[in-house]
Amino acid sequence: MRSVLLIGVVLAVAVAAGAAVAVGAEQAGEDTLPQTAFTAEDLKKYDGRDPELPILISLKGIVYDVTAGKRFYGPGASYNALVGKDSTRAVGLWSLDEKDLTDDISDFTEEQLAGLNEVIETVYKAKYPVVGRFVKTHDEL
Ligand code: HEM
Repeated sequence: MRSVLLIGVVLAVAVAAGAAVAVGAEQAGEDTLPQTAFTAEDLKKYDGRDPELPILISLKGIVYDVTAGKRFYGPGASYNALVGKDSTRAVGLWSLDEKDLTDDISDFTEEQLAGLNEVIETVYKAKYPVVGRFVKTHDEL
């Protein structure tokens, strides 16, 4: 009787552990975004000026940590203007013009949207970790 009880307990623990692993795997799924929300104001300090902080870029509302690409995005590097903000428009247009350093792609053609998505897939999603999402205000949470 005691051994039946013991087997029961062992089984229950195993099932619970299995469920915990399954939930963990689901949460770590690629489509699951970290819950950290960054406003435009929050992002400003992640432009590479402070070596203690990661370098962040927001594209189509997703925030990537591009610190590993410091040679592109660090202070004085070619693409430093793109970081510490949402620069979706600039990346979609291959532009570094001040006026394009925004998240506004409302006037993009299908072709421009496709080009933007391709850069995001082949450069950002492929190379850099996602650390959060871009929000207008923290009330959006
Ligand atoms: C004369 C013009 C340009 C040249 C010769 C050039 C050259 C390059 C080269 C060689 C790379 C790849 C570097 C590597 O993987 O080691 C690169 C990457 C890149 N370029 Fe340019 N580029 C130019 C203009 C621009 C402009 C105007 C933008 C504006 C958005 C831009 C955005 C990027 C981005 C986002 C990457 C990817 C960086 C990464 O891997 O994180 N480039 N460029």
